[in-house]
Amino acid sequence: MSKIHVLDIELANQIAAGEVIERPSSVVKELVENALDANANNIAVYIVAAGREEIRVEDNGEGMSKEDAVLAFSRHATSKISSKFDLFHIKTLGFRGEALPSISSVANVELLTSQGDVGTLVKIKNNVLTSEVARSRKGTIVKITNLFYNTPARLKYLKADYTENANTIETFTRLALAHPEVAFSLYIDNKLRLETSGRGDLKETIMNLYGLHVAKNLVPFSYKTPDYEIEGYLGKAELARSNRYSIIVNLNGRNVYMPKVQAAIIDAYHDFLAPTRYPFVVLNFKIEPALVDFNVHPTKKEVRFSKETELRLALIRLIPETLLQTDLVARPYQSEPFIYEKKAEEKYEQLTLKFEDSVKEKESPIIQERESEVLPQRPLEIKKGDDSVIKSPFLQPIGQLNLTYIVCEDGEGGFCLIDQHAAMERINYEHFQDVLSKPKHVRSPLTPLLIDLTAAETQLLTKDKLELLLTVGIKLVPFGINSFRVEEVPIFQKGYDEELYVRDVINIAINENELDLTKLYREAISSMACKASIRANQFLSISDMKNVIDSLSKTTNPYTCPHGRPVIIRFTKYELEKMFKRTGT
Ligand SMILES: Nc1ncnc2c1ncn2[C@@H]1O[C@H](COP(=O)(O)OP(=O)(O)O)[C@@H](O)[C@H]1O
Ligand SMILES: [Mg+2]
Repeated sequence: MSKIHVLDIELANQIAAGEVIERPSSVVKELVENALDANANNIAVYIVAAGREEIRVEDNGEGMSKEDAVLAFSRHATSKISSKFDLFHIKTLGFRGEALPSISSVANVELLTSQGDVGTLVKIKNNVLTSEVARSRKGTIVKITNLFYNTPARLKYLKADYTENANTIETFTRLALAHPEVAFSLYIDNKLRLETSGRGDLKETIMNLYGLHVAKNLVPFSYKTPDYEIEGYLGKAELARSNRYSIIVNLNGRNVYMPKVQAAIIDAYHDFLAPTRYPFVVLNFKIEPALVDFNVHPTKKEVRFSKETELRLALIRLIPETLLQTDLVARPYQSEPFIYEKKAEEKYEQLTLKFEDSVKEKESPIIQERESEVLPQRPLEIKKGDDSVIKSPFLQPIGQLNLTYIVCEDGEGGFCLIDQHAAMERINYEHFQDVLSKPKHVRSPLTPLLIDLTAAETQLLTKDKLELLLTVGIKLVPFGINSFRVEEVPIFQKGYDEELYVRDVINIAINENELDLTKLYREAISSMACKASIRANQFLSISDMKNVIDSLSKTTNPYTCPHGRPVIIRFTKYELEKMFKRTGT
């Protein structure tokens, strides 16, 4: 007797639902994507009891005819693609025709829709579909109740309400960021939690979702090639987070997961953030649909993009360039010891955003207006681009604090504190970078140098890696079974431990999965710079301090040390006056 039989449609839908409908936030994602595909410019999401009781999405999109409204619940029923060609030129968010049948197999659904004339109400209860004529305005309302009523395991797997709501807020936020041209609102338990203006301005949308503090600390970023376009914002160091969830990448209006692109962004921020901090970044990519494959995973979160390597390299180069053109000098109130009067706007925190004031003033350019009230004064003289970013003649050292910080006047009535170790690290870092970038700056080790490795290490030190080491000035020649003779090392400043350096770099070369030359190079340089730098607790004369400031002013990024910690903190005249309540008198 045959053992194989075709699954009945209900079961097949439930299996599909297992993939695409994991939790309330997945329902929100699918329904909002449908609304976006229907060209809605106003989308409201309502969540009751974390979605266990009700999830409702209302849109003002094109709506559906009576026939389509019923057909939409059949498996693989879609209006979005019809041929293989379409599959490789996806312009919509949906295309698999799976969401509605999947949702209706694990929940009860009511869909009220109209194309502007007579409307249709489709109800699916316990997998039974009925439809009737109903009054409705143009657009669609989809209401989901009893989610996972027939899949107890899924229901049990749901987390506490606040966790599920946090997931929904995250999903909603990402959809809204990918579509600044659409006005979104999110109600949780009948309270408005988030709302965007839908005026097409990404910065305003970021402010709507994350608050003014975030919006004030963004650097615009844009880049265009014949194959793709990037528009977005890079967060300054003060927006750094302890996890990578705030690196948001949207591709053709879809929030996507591109781990390598994310890694490139983190890498690009290397010089600007402390080692375990991650940047706040929102980038919207527009890519020629033929170059992208969304059909990798049922949730379409993962994508393949044929020019990904190019894109990564561009980001690694352009992000630091863009950041360096901005005022990045740290300010006292980032570490906030002196704030006694918090601005009302600073209460606007991510996720717990209260919205009322900001969106009511829809017609006024909110961001610009408030910015002008609270933005700090101009910092040290900044020039776009390269060399003398900080004009050293203005910085006059007046003393040393705790044998650690150089105190100097800024020439404009304020003062700066410079972390002497961080400053020297930056100076040496750029110095070594310069030395290593020139060919022929190698020499034999001062004393004959043999490096013993373990068998595993030797195994991993492939020919490619030996060649890679050569590019950073280290020439290793096999010498016995697990030993190498060091024939060349780069030229260093006096006093540097050659063996330690060579070992450090070999370690990096071995442990990196990819042969990432820039990273290897940078870590080598940064470890050299750190070891060769003056420490804290070292006395500096005024002329030593002048030398430090002078050399610092010649670096390309005097603001942060190679590990991302701030080098200079400035207290402007204005800030001092504010702290002493001398302003406006
Ligand atoms: N909010 C909506 N407005 C207009 N049409 C919709 C809406 N939601 C769904 N539809 C229609 O129902 C079809 C099936 O939706 P879905 O199951 O999500 O599959 P897909 O989005 O992959 O096509 C869509 O192709 C679309 O034609
Ligand atoms: Mg869909």
